[in-house]
This record gives sequence, C-alpha cells and structure tokens, in this order.
Amino acid sequence: MIKIAPSILAADFTKLGDDIESVSSADYLHFDVMDGIFVPNISFGIPVLESVRKITKMVLDVHLMIDTPSRYINKFAQAGADIITFHVESETPDNIHVAINEIKKLGKKAGLSMKPDTPAKELLPYINSLDLVLVMTVEPGYGGQLFIDAMLPKIEELRGIINDRGLNCELEVDGGINPETAKQCIEAGANVLVAGNDVFNAHDRAAHIKSLRNY
Ligand code: DX5
Ligand code: ZN
Repeated sequence: MIKIAPSILAADFTKLGDDIESVSSADYLHFDVMDGIFVPNISFGIPVLESVRKITKMVLDVHLMIDTPSRYINKFAQAGADIITFHVESETPDNIHVAINEIKKLGKKAGLSMKPDTPAKELLPYINSLDLVLVMTVEPGYGGQLFIDAMLPKIEELRGIINDRGLNCELEVDGGINPETAKQCIEAGANVLVAGNDVFNAHDRAAHIKSLRNY
C-alpha cells in the first residue's frame, strides 16, 4: 500500500490548522525540523509540534534534520511525534543504536534517513531495528527542489535489502515528489512518499493525494 505524507514545510503558516485539515486524508503528516546547523535552514520545532498534535489525529512523521538529535528524542516524543526519523550522518554509530532503542522504548516508530551522497550501506548496521528508512531525494534543507534521479538505484537497493531480510520496514522518499517522480519511486520500491509543494500547491489536495497513491 502506498502512503502519502504531506510535508507542512510547504504549508501556509498563517492558516496552518486549515492546511492540515485540507490534507487529513493523507496517511502521515510530515514534519521537517531543521536547526540551521545540520542543514543550512531553520524551520520549526517542539512548540509547533505540540500545537499540531492538539488539532489532528494524523500520524505525525517527524523528520529531524538537526545536529545530535539524541538530545531531543524524548522531547519530540512527548510533544506528540508518532514516527521519529533522524539522520545517519548526525550521530556516532554507538549513539545511533542508543537513539533507535530510546525511540522504540518511548513507544514510537524509529526511522533513519540519509543525505543523497550517503550510500545505502551506511544503514546496514541499523536497518534490522528500523520501522522506516527515509531516502532523501533532494539535498535536505529546502522544499521545492528538483528530484535527484540518481537516488533511484539507492531506493531499489534498499527495497532489495528490506525484502531479502524479510523486514517490516517502510521505505520513504522525501524531496521533489510529483506525479512523475512518484511513479519512478514506487517502481523502484518506495512505499511512503513525502510531498510538500506538489500537494499544497494542488487545487484539490484530497484528490491529488488520492492520485499520488495510485501511480
Ligand atoms: C528537504 C525537505 C523537503 C520537503 C518536501 O529538507 O524535507 O524535501 O520535505 O519538499 P517538496 O516541496 O520538494 O516536496
Ligand atoms: Zn522531510
């Protein structure tokens, strides 16, 4: 089953509640946290997540593009995250194992993401304990970028590893997703599509979410 995760990075923050309501037929609500250190942009954090949690029952799919995320896992869990994904480049190997375990102990789903230049093999030591792998299909930091086609073989490689190991791990892609790239990602083996601008710029967001699922 293909899942759609609209990224609120592309929402209108002057009417965030209405925008979230308009995409409530999606499977997850993707929450792009940026600290201006790990990525060259600053987005939003815990107070916004706490407010969003109060107004929606959607699964909150939190993507931490921050330095040393292990410092904040408990706070994001308490603020209402359902899935907490951090970057393999942002912690030491030992801390990655600790952070994954902490997320799961808190009753949340654990995800690990990688930047475009990071090879899939970097995730191999952790993938057996993950609920989700997030392949960045743009350089993290900004919405509205062009999809990097060179990520398709990485998606295929990870889908192969997940299937060969019989893992119950979702494969999510994030960045530059539109009808054309959605089809390519699904064919490569992705099953969760993050889409910011493509969804929030659609005239009928609910219809567009439905169409993205069917590629
Ligand atoms: C990059 C962000 C974007 C965003 C989706 O750090 O993670 O990928 O979620 O952006 P677009 O608008 O390309 O779907
Ligand atoms: Zn994201």
